[in-house]
Amino acid sequence: MLLIYFISVFCGVRAAIYYDSYSGSTITAERVKQHDKANTTFWCVNEIEPCDPNEGRRVDGSCNNLQYPSRGASHTPFARALPPVFSANFEPKKAADGSDLPLARFLRTSLVSVGRIPSQMFTALAIHDFVFMSADIVSLHDTVNYIVWKPYCCAERGKTDYMCVPNQIPPDDPVHRFSGQRCLNMTRPETFQTIGCIKNNTSPERIVSSTPLLDLSVIYGNALQSLLRRGRLFEGGMLKFEEENGRIWPPKYPTNGHLICLSNQRPQETRCHLMPEDGGNTLGGINLMSIWFWRHHNFIAKNLAAVNPCWTDDKLFETARDINIAVALQIYYYELLPVFFGYDNMVKDGVITPTGGFRDVYDPNVMPQVSLEYPFVLRWVHTIQNGLIKMYDKDGYYMKQVPVVNLTLRTGYFALDDNLDLMTQGSFRQGSDNVDYTADFDITEIGLGPQQYLSDLMTSDLAKNRLFGFQPYVKYREFCFGNKVKSFDDLHGSIDPERIEILKDVYKSVEDIDLLAAIWVEKPLRGGYAPPTFYCLVIDQLRRNMVSDRHWYERPNRPNAFTAAQLAEIRKATIARLLCDVGDTVTRIQPRAFLKAGYNNQMCNCNEINGINYAAWKDATCEVESFWSKFVY
Ligand SMILES: *[C@@H]1O[C@H](CO)[C@@H](O)[C@H](O)[C@H]1NC(C)=O
Ligand SMILES: *[C@@H]1O[C@H](CO)[C@@H](O)[C@H](O)[C@H]1NC(C)=O
Ligand SMILES: *[C@@H]1O[C@H](CO)[C@@H](O)[C@H](O)[C@H]1NC(C)=O
Ligand SMILES: *[C@@H]1O[C@H](CO)[C@@H](O)[C@H](O)[C@H]1NC(C)=O
Repeated sequence: MLLIYFISVFCGVRAAIYYDSYSGSTITAERVKQHDKANTTFWCVNEIEPCDPNEGRRVDGSCNNLQYPSRGASHTPFARALPPVFSANFEPKKAADGSDLPLARFLRTSLVSVGRIPSQMFTALAIHDFVFMSADIVSLHDTVNYIVWKPYCCAERGKTDYMCVPNQIPPDDPVHRFSGQRCLNMTRPETFQTIGCIKNNTSPERIVSSTPLLDLSVIYGNALQSLLRRGRLFEGGMLKFEEENGRIWPPKYPTNGHLICLSNQRPQETRCHLMPEDGGNTLGGINLMSIWFWRHHNFIAKNLAAVNPCWTDDKLFETARDINIAVALQIYYYELLPVFFGYDNMVKDGVITPTGGFRDVYDPNVMPQVSLEYPFVLRWVHTIQNGLIKMYDKDGYYMKQVPVVNLTLRTGYFALDDNLDLMTQGSFRQGSDNVDYTADFDITEIGLGPQQYLSDLMTSDLAKNRLFGFQPYVKYREFCFGNKVKSFDDLHGSIDPERIEILKDVYKSVEDIDLLAAIWVEKPLRGGYAPPTFYCLVIDQLRRNMVSDRHWYERPNRPNAFTAAQLAEIRKATIARLLCDVGDTVTRIQPRAFLKAGYNNQMCNCNEINGINYAAWKDATCEVESFWSKFVY
């Protein structure tokens, strides 16, 4: 046994292949040594075990594309819907007349009003799922960079640091003309160039630590070692867990914990999730979703073990993980996005199937990548994020509230008193913010809560739009809808006249309009509640996911594919059922929980809400075994 172990470890080490994370081509051990010396191996090199075409989805995303094994792994480049444009030295492009574009903060205050107007339609839970699904494919380092590593961007020292790109606040700013504050901290997004993987005289290419696939990275991490060490219980296919005051949690960092939960109010708040990655501790909504999907894994594993007593821990774990990922995708594609995009629009554009059954659009020539535009336009959701987390008891009585920005990096709060129960109840009772061209004042002024004196998340979003070199809005309109916009007047029909007038006031030329600025003011698409260009760029990526992911859950012929009967069960997954199964004190909920309860969506008892029947995973070989075991014992 020991011998076999040594041989396999030895062979494994010898067989691993090194790839350049940027180009995706193999590199020599010599080149890897150079990276070791420069301490750039972590970012610039992917070390990958040889691919086995019959293997399931790897945690590190490698071997998704058998031709290009490193594509799909972390630290690999984004795709682009449209190629980037920059001015000299890859600095943000200028206006059409060669002048600087208007300040990002000025555009934000001009184009987006500020207020807190609760939606009567969407719940806070919808926003939680949005941010959770974005967290799957991005990483936190670009924010940590200016809060922790380079906290001087607004100070004198920031002026000479290439990485510092603070946002100027104009003297007549509607809020800060009174405060005297003139600067918002920000750093450049890290790129393959800033990390030192490729030469600086090449087009900046963003680098993140998540895998580009929608594969629940927040739960399972981006590296196998980390999942084995921090995640797996190695019993019953489960993830590690802890019980505290009758509630089930992911394991926690040892007391006095970890840097990531830096907003924990000690001594009473100590909990900080010890997951394969730290992402579950970041934003309030992500934290809730992480707790639920963590528990959901174990819920699935227990159900599988009940129907298949002969399955090993490995088999249970991998199947539970595969189902958990499929459930997250099913809820995202078939439940969350349709409420904003319109179900019929998504069917028409081929992103969801109205008839169920398998779908196979896999094309190995399309690399498993995320377009850089996708996580970026998702930031439109900042406009519909309510600044408060409202808490309710299980009978729907309002109890208390906390600003959502205060919960960032503060897992300890969730474990205090019965906060988790009350927040869970609140998630499907409280509204998101309205879709109405207004953003919550916490999002636009103190978006990072106690971590930063001032923070306008939407100003940062817009400023990053430029650092990524996105083409002007009019080019994306052409990409999405084929029509050329040559003058401000051509925007009629897409944008309300009053907002066109503001655009005319703030931009000199229609070609100067930033992608995100226009998305903020576009009229919602027909049959939905989201800006059409946002829709287009999200749909573009949703399609890329299905086409480029060899392990896409709707495929009939991927390794360990679901049977037709199993896929039919996956299609029953809803966020309401998930909360009934793993949410604290949830016994009643509305069936479509991304929408507020009401006419046609009345709260009902959990036992009236359909769910997955795990009997579809019944493995006949277990029965044969147990039949014979009667004779043996
Ligand atoms: C080497 O890189 C790692 C990962 O980026 C970093 O955590 C570490 O501090 C670096 N070490 C040195 C000596 O720079
Ligand atoms: C590119 O420039 C940045 C910032 O000056 C520097 O940190 C980085 O090491 C450079 N990269 C290369 C490959 O020279
Ligand atoms: C939220 O954080 C701010 C500091 O950023 C603090 O002043 C305020 O009291 C906090 N609110 C709650 C309800 O915890
Ligand atoms: C910028 O960051 C520094 C260091 O964290 C902080 O002291 C300062 O208040 C920040 N500026 C603003 C406007 O938040």
